[in-house]
Amino acid sequence: MSKVYVTRQIPQEPLDRLRRSHEVEINPHDRPLTRDELLREVRGRDAVITLLTDTIDSEVLDAAGPQCRIFANYAVGYNNFDLDAATRRGVILTNTPGVLDEATATHAWSLLLAVARRIPEAERHLRAGRWNGWGPLQFLGQDVDHKTLGIAGLGRIGSQFASKAAAFNMRVIYHNLVRVPEFEQACGATFVDKATLLREADFLSLHLPLMPETRHYIGAQELAAMKPTAVLVNTGRGPLVDEQALVAALRDRVIWGAGLDVFEHEPLLTPGLAELENVVIVPHIASATFETRLAMGRIAVENVMSVLAGRPPQNCINPSLRHEPPQF
Ligand code: DGY
Repeated sequence: MSKVYVTRQIPQEPLDRLRRSHEVEINPHDRPLTRDELLREVRGRDAVITLLTDTIDSEVLDAAGPQCRIFANYAVGYNNFDLDAATRRGVILTNTPGVLDEATATHAWSLLLAVARRIPEAERHLRAGRWNGWGPLQFLGQDVDHKTLGIAGLGRIGSQFASKAAAFNMRVIYHNLVRVPEFEQACGATFVDKATLLREADFLSLHLPLMPETRHYIGAQELAAMKPTAVLVNTGRGPLVDEQALVAALRDRVIWGAGLDVFEHEPLLTPGLAELENVVIVPHIASATFETRLAMGRIAVENVMSVLAGRPPQNCINPSLRHEPPQF
């Protein structure tokens, strides 16, 4: 029986399936493993199911040992992996694309709407007993209908997000590494350069993978280029945005608001962020639905079972070990 370690409890059903043919051990704590625990727990395992909170680098790969064949991320993003280090050792890395596109896109819309219509702020006011009755100028927000929706990064999640814009009769503009003509036809979207995206978007949603080239994709300069009425939404990865610059921009009303699911130094927030009324912040829950998290578990387990059975996994992300290009 191969030995599999799971760095945090994930939905039970796929784990039960894995247990039928493998020896499975799971982090018993309701928290991420510390670095020392991770280094200790991977030792001697044939496969490890990891989270985006686990940094998998040379040290961890060496601690696991040469028998370890796969680290399967329970996430679509894989910026927590050192791809080169794993590939050099012949260790397969996988992710969970496809199954969380809809949940993540819907969540990005929830944030966009919540910021535009100031819902959490109004709710705080009401719950605190400060409401003194209907008022014509209370909690005025931004219309969403007929506005310009900007999308940075047109992978599967970005496209799914864009497809929902038709409900609000929005103009859709996007910037991506490459143009996607099928998408332009399907969503009536227009490809623009980054400067135009920043200048023209009323709502800008980030759907880029985190890589050295996309770190601080939005910084002070980019925020200054946006409309003072603009709303920024980030459900990708925190470091896509220079959070300190964003706090300053929100405080000084350089932009109107922001909806954030992810943060630059998770689980910590940049000082000042949580005190701002014009930002909606939630703790990295874009894929957190029963259905989606179960589907992610099934994929991670399937990837592990394939590799341990000597078959190529569906979602290999190492460039030289995969059969299909990786997906976001
Ligand atoms: C992912 O899968 O990359 C998300 O951030 C977690 O749901």
